[in-house]
Amino acid sequence: MTNKAPIGVFDSGVGGLTVVKEIMNQLPGEDIIYFGDTARLPYGSKSKKTVITYTRQIVRFLMNKDVKAIVIACNTASALALETVKSEVDIPIIGVVEPGAKVAASTTINGRIGVIGTEGTIQSGVYNEILSKTNPNVEVFGKACPLFVPLVEEGLIDDPVTCEMAKRYINELLKKNIDTLVLGCTHYPLLRKTIRKVVGEDIVLVNPAYETAKALSEVLTEKGLRNDSTPKLNHKFYVSDGAEKFRQFANSILPCEVMETKDINIEELG
Ligand code: DGL
Repeated sequence: MTNKAPIGVFDSGVGGLTVVKEIMNQLPGEDIIYFGDTARLPYGSKSKKTVITYTRQIVRFLMNKDVKAIVIACNTASALALETVKSEVDIPIIGVVEPGAKVAASTTINGRIGVIGTEGTIQSGVYNEILSKTNPNVEVFGKACPLFVPLVEEGLIDDPVTCEMAKRYINELLKKNIDTLVLGCTHYPLLRKTIRKVVGEDIVLVNPAYETAKALSEVLTEKGLRNDSTPKLNHKFYVSDGAEKFRQFANSILPCEVMETKDINIEELG
């Protein structure tokens, strides 16, 4: 495997672009191939079996593009499928749960950590497992926030409705006296400002997207796969539906311009 090969990144839709943004900032010499499963979103309310099936198809699709490493940018797929697919590929594959959880476990002072995410992520208990393994003294309080994803997708990022929902979801965690809150879903870093208003200044917000890009950088360096300069970057974006809508969203959050997004049939190709 050459270090010139691209990095494969995927998510259930647009949310994983928050991870792509961090990868572009921290690893500016790397080419990225992104797949957003926009036709089958959301993953957050689907069963483990279904999320594993989808993840396997996408991993196969990315492997066929000769990627040197894969990032599962989706918290739900990381929580439900990473453990299973990890043993099925021979390139590094990392999810977003472990990097975020490890930082939260070492950041907390009072040992009380809140985790917000989709129903699938929270019910899986994976954050809880990794947090407790990293720091046995922590107590973890999870809360599913199912309306956050559609609110972000509707563009209601800085909106009174979103603020009201954030209060309803997060107040329960504030009552538990948490000092650290993990934004355990791809879309939540986009709600950071609103969440900050609700939690106040004293709670540490952990952004798994940022921590994952850091973890990726470490893995690539360790394996001798890191590429610090590509003469002409050629990122590629694929989705399973709504290529144009995706392209517009991508251009609103990425530091580079996305000229083209391709629609593909993942069930046929993957
Ligand atoms: N990408 C998902 C996650 O991070 C959120 C959207 C969905 O439910 O598919 O959990």
